[in-house]
Amino acid sequence: MQSIMEDISFKIIVADSSHKQFSSIIADEMENSAKARGTGIAKRSPAYLETKMEEGKAVIALTTEGVWAGFCYIEAWGHGKFVANSGLIVSPEFRKYGLARKIKREIFKLSRTKYPESKIFGLTTGAAVMKINSELGYIPVSYSDLTDDEEFWKGCRSCVNYEILMAKNRQNCLCTAMLYDPNAKRNHTEELALRDDFKKEIKLFDRWVRLKKYVMLKLNKSKDSITSIFL
Ligand SMILES: CC(C)(COP(=O)(O)OP(=O)(O)OC[C@H]1O[C@@H](n2cnc3c(N)ncnc32)[C@H](O)[C@@H]1OP(=O)(O)O)[C@@H](O)C(=O)NCCC(=O)NCCS
Repeated sequence: MQSIMEDISFKIIVADSSHKQFSSIIADEMENSAKARGTGIAKRSPAYLETKMEEGKAVIALTTEGVWAGFCYIEAWGHGKFVANSGLIVSPEFRKYGLARKIKREIFKLSRTKYPESKIFGLTTGAAVMKINSELGYIPVSYSDLTDDEEFWKGCRSCVNYEILMAKNRQNCLCTAMLYDPNAKRNHTEELALRDDFKKEIKLFDRWVRLKKYVMLKLNKSKDSITSIFL
């Protein structure tokens, strides 16, 4: 039997002012999805998302009928030394059909065009996002390899795990840090081994997320040992 999704095609484009009409539905879905996952997020207002659209720093997915399907935007930190592709969201009815992968590819291309010298990073607990990032050339890194821009880290305040991040002196938390470095030497043996491991299957990412959650939450309960383990 043919699935409904096979009949739907999407346009994935750089957002502009004409897409401001979708800002509220996107902001609401970001919040609802975070609640459903039991995580916190850097809360974004519709007005903030509209700014990203006006600046040409967002990618939006729409069905050919004009129904909103997905979104992601760019944030620059540390005077543009770092760039994050943030707020990835796919409307629940269009999930698991490869849309997030397509949106991430487009926002990655847009980031490379707008900020060719910047390192691109992400912090995520999502197995899907880890997999897509690794396909794009990101590798897992420690938090000290990310931006030290205070404004970026302020975004973590609204996360349910903020206490853990602070207890670890901002060096680790439940999220996995991943980085794309345009100037990295790609033939470094250690990096390649790490990347190969991370390129395997989605099950590997799921296991990693579960293990990290288990260890970090356990550590938070026994504060004495909280500084002694680094994943
Ligand atoms: C995470 C999210 C963006 C994925 O969107 P999607 O369009 O369903 O993802 P895709 O179909 O492109 O899937 C990409 C890969 O991830 C896998 N995947 C998708 N959702 C997954 C999930 N919840 N758990 C584990 N793997 C998942 C897919 O199987 C696919 O891997 P495969 O090619 O090996 O089969 C979407 O579920 C969402 O919007 N969630 C709420 C917001 C969120 O979590 N954003 C990420 C914040 S970092």
